[in-house]
Amino acid sequence: MAEEPDAGGPVRAAQDETAGLSAGMARHSRGDPASGLQTLPALLRHRFTYGPLSRWASLPMRIRSVAGHNARTLRTSARWLVSSREYTNYTHDLEPLNVEHLAWFVADVTGIDVAAARGYMRELSEDDDLARHIARVNAHHPRGATADSARYGKRLGWYAITRAIRPTHVVECGTDRGLGSVVFAAALLRNGTGTLTTIDINPMAGYLIRGRYADVTRLLIGDSLEQVRAVTDPVDLFLHDSARTGAHERAELAAMEPHLTPSAVVLSNSADISPELPHWAERTGRRFTFFAERPVGHWHRGCGIGAALPPGMRAAG
Ligand SMILES: C[S@@+](CC[C@H](N)C(=O)[O-])C[C@H]1O[C@@H](n2cnc3c(N)ncnc32)[C@H](O)[C@@H]1O
Repeated sequence: MAEEPDAGGPVRAAQDETAGLSAGMARHSRGDPASGLQTLPALLRHRFTYGPLSRWASLPMRIRSVAGHNARTLRTSARWLVSSREYTNYTHDLEPLNVEHLAWFVADVTGIDVAAARGYMRELSEDDDLARHIARVNAHHPRGATADSARYGKRLGWYAITRAIRPTHVVECGTDRGLGSVVFAAALLRNGTGTLTTIDINPMAGYLIRGRYADVTRLLIGDSLEQVRAVTDPVDLFLHDSARTGAHERAELAAMEPHLTPSAVVLSNSADISPELPHWAERTGRRFTFFAERPVGHWHRGCGIGAALPPGMRAAG
């Protein structure tokens, strides 16, 4: 036998409200003093919320909401225009809750405790030597005029993953100034083992890679698809952070694949806009996961970290 529809609940409440409003409306239209003022506002509210004109009647509230949002974005943008010098590859800090999410992401990707992941991220944030190195090199390099002080954002995750899995060889495609490169290099130096190969098509790239950070880093200039083929050492950690087009990312992953060790972790800075890494992960029997950046005090919406992992991978310890 078919069940009776539930006679109570929100539907019934709405029917009751409507019935009460209809009665009140009838009394009001008859000039019934019992209708009172309490019923008319309720009637208007009901009409406003559920009636055919509700879409337009709510317009002032909708305008207020979106104007508030846009005013906040404009204020942030104006502050950024005054305080920042960057015009590309924007850097920023992450919202505190986003940093906590990143720690859990690192723990999930590498299999380490979240406390250890937090510790690695703190280690980078408190690395005064690295911050001073970046400030010093920027102060003396022509491109330093359009650089801000060290703000690592998603690179906190790159650092913590490098500390956790202790790779022998890291490859980064897309060097730019070399901010990610010195972050990777700092992690390798703390590990006491491992080297970085970083690749960029721009001959002016990598100016931050100096001093002790250069000791563990090899900079290759040229198209990443060509340069990746020339990589000879097996790769334990790969980062795609070069041209943010699906076609280039796909080609880079294909070129890198024969060089990866079975437990290699593959990261992408394009996973917020491209499905190439999850598609590649599925094709090659890996897991995929993604962390989305939430920048603080910046108009840019941020990027993120896409990660493709061998199933059941655990950190080296
Ligand atoms: C987003 S930046 C890299 C940022 C860097 N990883 C960091 O952490 O700051 C992208 C870089 O990719 C480089 N690039 C673009 N197309 C490339 C290609 N086909 N081969 C190699 N590098 C490329 C650009 O010159 C640019 O410096």
